[in-house]
Amino acid sequence: MKEYINKSNEVYDELALNDDRLAQVSCNNQRNQDLRFQEIVNQVDNFHDKNTTILDVGCGNGGFYSFILEQGFEGNYRGVDINEKIINNAKNYHKGISFECVNILEQKIKPADYVIMSGVFNTNFSQDIDYIELMMTRCFELADYKYIGNALSTYNNYSDNKLFYISPESMIKIIIKLSCRFDLIHGNPPYNYTFSIIKKIE
Ligand SMILES: C[S@@+](CC[C@H](N)C(=O)[O-])C[C@H]1O[C@@H](n2cnc3c(N)ncnc32)[C@H](O)[C@@H]1O
Repeated sequence: MKEYINKSNEVYDELALNDDRLAQVSCNNQRNQDLRFQEIVNQVDNFHDKNTTILDVGCGNGGFYSFILEQGFEGNYRGVDINEKIINNAKNYHKGISFECVNILEQKIKPADYVIMSGVFNTNFSQDIDYIELMMTRCFELADYKYIGNALSTYNNYSDNKLFYISPESMIKIIIKLSCRFDLIHGNPPYNYTFSIIKKIE
């Protein structure tokens, strides 16, 4: 696990230096980023409730927070990431919002109604599926209602060895160990899918 985190930090330490906010999180297309975020927001049942709490794991520079602010989110948001430099960028973009450098696998952290995670599994560090399962199990543990995330699909007519693809079948094998109540929405953007794992229905 330490090995993956070190490799990830090597990549994001450098990306964090970019002036361009999207480039800092290894993304080159705002529309696709927005589509991914919208798919996540679609799964947050009480998005407009002021009491709703969201924990964004692997929040990067706070792009998801910017997106939900534009959508009128008035609840409580917290972002955590393992990379100190990218977290400092998030703090600069959003003064007064809780952004913390935390390793959720090793540190105690307050749960939230919705734990969300976008793009965290997308960079290829030759990680194994057990690491993905470990991260997902921890995120689900931290969610009071739902854990919502995304991954790059193997059902894709393009392949880049810098990216990490997870088949929906492998993903479902992990999800089903956590809960039999889940959604998996494939194809928006086309090479991406969103999963939503339900712990408790309000
Ligand atoms: C592609 S960026 C996505 C950032 C943000 N979620 C977004 O969509 O703009 C991936 C982020 O995941 C973070 N990350 C990678 N592994 C992580 C882990 N085990 N725990 C927390 N953050 C992690 C990286 O530091 C990086 O900021």
